[in-house]
Amino acid sequence: MTQTLVVLGAQWGDEGKGKVVDLLTDRVDVVARFQGGHNAGHTLVIDGRKTVLHLLPSGILHAGVECIIGNGVVLSMAALLREIHGLEERGLQLRDRVRVSGGCPLILPSHIFLDQARETTNRGGGKIGTTGRGIGPAYEDKVGRRAIHLAMTRNESDFSARLEELLDYHNFLLRHWYQQEEVDFAEARDEMLGQARELRPMIADSVDILHQRREAGHKILFEGAQGSLLDIDHGTYPFVTSSNTTSGAAATGSGFGPLHLDRVLGVAKVYTTRVGDGPFPTELFDATGEHLAKRGNEFGSTTGRSRRCGWFDAQAVRLATRINSISGLCLTKLDVLDGLERLKVCIGYREGSARDDSGQLQPVYEELPGWRESTNGARALEDLPANARAYIRFIEDTVGAPVDIISTGADRAETIILRQPFD
Ligand code: GDP
Ligand code: IMO
Ligand code: MG
Repeated sequence: MTQTLVVLGAQWGDEGKGKVVDLLTDRVDVVARFQGGHNAGHTLVIDGRKTVLHLLPSGILHAGVECIIGNGVVLSMAALLREIHGLEERGLQLRDRVRVSGGCPLILPSHIFLDQARETTNRGGGKIGTTGRGIGPAYEDKVGRRAIHLAMTRNESDFSARLEELLDYHNFLLRHWYQQEEVDFAEARDEMLGQARELRPMIADSVDILHQRREAGHKILFEGAQGSLLDIDHGTYPFVTSSNTTSGAAATGSGFGPLHLDRVLGVAKVYTTRVGDGPFPTELFDATGEHLAKRGNEFGSTTGRSRRCGWFDAQAVRLATRINSISGLCLTKLDVLDGLERLKVCIGYREGSARDDSGQLQPVYEELPGWRESTNGARALEDLPANARAYIRFIEDTVGAPVDIISTGADRAETIILRQPFD
């Protein structure tokens, strides 16, 4: 029996993790985020109504489900409150079931300015195309052992002293390194203390809660953000995010032991997208790329930027399968391929590997026939055209992991479940 499941992205993010997490949440008691921050944008569509979540776990729309933000997440209190207020305006009750680890490092206003300054001046070692949410600088401070944790806001005078010291350092960088405006300490302190007071009832010992739930037999889902190829260690460095996005982080970012993680579901689109800069071996610059972007509505859920589109890269997803121990795949956006005459799948590169950042990789493609019929909304494998089934089987064989779920539309209901991950 599966009690705990990790759901994570097997490509460069935006694979459809939010939809799948929401869908699987009808089987679980707890959903936990363990890395990243509000750089994530996870889209849920339920009966035609769209919700985009950045920080709250994608189980939040299910009444009674406990939602945990683990210690591995870098926390913008402002972004979390914005999201909470937005959902409350829609009538959702959530304050008694959102629990935020006191160990979350805080994203300060200065982190956001530092992130943006690095991207827009020539003093940052080259543009990454970040989401501009302060994620990189916040993780730098965590690793530099000078971050302010959420729990440290409880002692307000101690918090103020820490903030003043850290802002001194950030302001030095902003002024002298980037020639930018400084951040006002008193303004930042008052703003953050107000946010901290509102969040205080939600601060929790998430490690203890997760273990208590596990011991009580509750089902727990760990929701990844970003994708495996954006992992700080295993991704296309330096064009990556600043956290480990791979399954090991589900343990370190939540305090759960790795042997308590039963299965890992890797989510991948049946083609590839990437937002931001960096290598993308199967990227298309032609009419097919435009077709994918248009049919797939490929605009970033967080920044609204156009996503770059290309063929499915089985070599990249095979790497993700290895580094995450992916036990099953969820393939999304099958419907976007409807109407394409020929499909290509990258089965390897002429040289190098998916991690090579030279940008010179030459994909080796296998060509498969497409299909004319619509797969949109299909809920059973038998409803798919033979060529679509063959395409999925080809991906399964080439990647080397079984396909458990196929998504055929953005809505929660537009899904084919071949093997229920929680059975
Ligand atoms: P996430 O970051 O992995 O949660 O993915 P995003 O929400 O950023 O991006 C995925 C996009 O594809 C969202 O707009 C979803 O509503 C949409 N989506 C998810 N699954 C499907 C699918 O099977 N078909 C189509 N057409 N859209 C989908
Ligand atoms: P979800 O969870 C896609 C990308 C940015 C940039 C790089 C670093 O919705 O899949 P950062 O702001 O993290 O320092 O940016 O990572 N990136 C994402 N791309 N989906 C995401 O999240 C992403 N979060 C960050 O575009 O290339
Ligand atoms: Mg997204």
